[in-house]
Amino acid sequence: MVEQLPDHVAVTDRPDRFGLRVHDSELWMDGVPLSRIAAEHGTPTYAYAASEIEARFDALAQAVGQHPTTLCYAVKANGALAVLRLLARRGAGADIVSGGELTRALRAGIPADKIVFSGVGKSNAELDAAITAGLRSINLESVEELEQVSARARALGRQATVSLRVNPDIDPETHPYLATGLQQAKFGIAMADAPTVARRAHADPHVTLRGIGCHIGSQITSARPFVDSIKRLRGLWEGLAAEGVELPQLDLGGGMGIPYRAEDPDLDVRAWGRAVDEATAGLPVELVLEPGRFLVGNAGVLLTRVLGRKQGEAQTDGPGDARRGPPKKRFVIVDAAMNDLVRPALYEAYHIITPVSVPERDAATEEVDVVGPVCESGDFLALARTMPITEPGQVLAVLSAGAYGMSMASNYNTRPLPAEVLVAGEHVDVLRPRQTVDELLAAERMPAWLADRS
Ligand code: LLP
Repeated sequence: MVEQLPDHVAVTDRPDRFGLRVHDSELWMDGVPLSRIAAEHGTPTYAYAASEIEARFDALAQAVGQHPTTLCYAVKANGALAVLRLLARRGAGADIVSGGELTRALRAGIPADKIVFSGVGKSNAELDAAITAGLRSINLESVEELEQVSARARALGRQATVSLRVNPDIDPETHPYLATGLQQAKFGIAMADAPTVARRAHADPHVTLRGIGCHIGSQITSARPFVDSIKRLRGLWEGLAAEGVELPQLDLGGGMGIPYRAEDPDLDVRAWGRAVDEATAGLPVELVLEPGRFLVGNAGVLLTRVLGRKQGEAQTDGPGDARRGPPKKRFVIVDAAMNDLVRPALYEAYHIITPVSVPERDAATEEVDVVGPVCESGDFLALARTMPITEPGQVLAVLSAGAYGMSMASNYNTRPLPAEVLVAGEHVDVLRPRQTVDELLAAERMPAWLADRS
């Protein structure tokens, strides 16, 4: 077995996997040292590398060569308007799941005919906005939703373009919370019901059935689950074509994975594209892909500063030492918390955390929990992590934080949202200044009968 390198060494050896590079013993994002971003913009701050997002988009766009393909970026991964604009300039569409994301995508300049609307529950107001804007497709999750969309289109005197999201019952071999294409999941139309729903949609005068599709889950690093689900979709497509319902669009969803741990595989995007080409060969369709994490995950880091250190209670289950008792747990307390990056708390997700000043290869390490200031035991960024010894004031980078970081951030504990910056060459532009507590409180109202402080 290959000996596993400590994270800080693995990152120093291959910083490019995490959207970074090493120069003068510092971690840099494109033309800017991370330490400078922390010094100028404070912490916690999310930093994204524009060139990295573009390179990943281009790699994926080039990987699937056989069919005309629209990459509909999953806005939920990172909805920053500048990120959307960056992708729109390269031809991206958007996969949205709410009226809010629709407004966001349109405002960033993504054309309506490149936007697909996913999600298991859509309100009438959201559907009205989608139908009026003329989206590429509203992805239907049930026969009930077909009826709802048809009724809204009729009320508006418009035609709604739809696609069926089927549930191919494929195991994507990922975290259970990230699997969506299994039979027991709440998502999609059961394969067995899909032909009936498709016939109904096809016959409905208020909707145009454009295609079928699926999204089987997230953080999938091999092509196999995709190929398996394409086979099922293909069977459905061919069955409908035999009845004269020839659909021009196949939506393969998102879910392409990225490395979080040093030993995680990189998705071989060209091999992935070849596998998709092969599985879809001969089908006269346009493809839609809905990548989120793959485009932005490793293009972003969360910068945080060590606030302090602490020794916890003695562990009772540690091996211990006869004279000194069991080892004590050590905590590194940082200024980013679960409200800034919830993935570790929510999915036990692993994010490499490494000092922005590159430690020596043989730097002394220690095992620590990296925790935030939020009043929850679940508020951690890393548990039992072996990392170089860090001191208060030191800046750390939490890697692979470009996807589902800021987009899942909250104000829990009245913590203002972190700042976001975009790095392009030597430029650092603020996308969102750090929220202030005044801004946070300004959103609230006091009932008149409580307004009197006396
Ligand atoms: N399309 C649909 C219909 C989806 O539901 C999702 C993600 C995507 C595309 C994009 O998936 P991606 O390419 O980013 O894997 N918060 C979790 C991830 C939840 C994903 C939800 N759906 C996380 O932090 O890992």
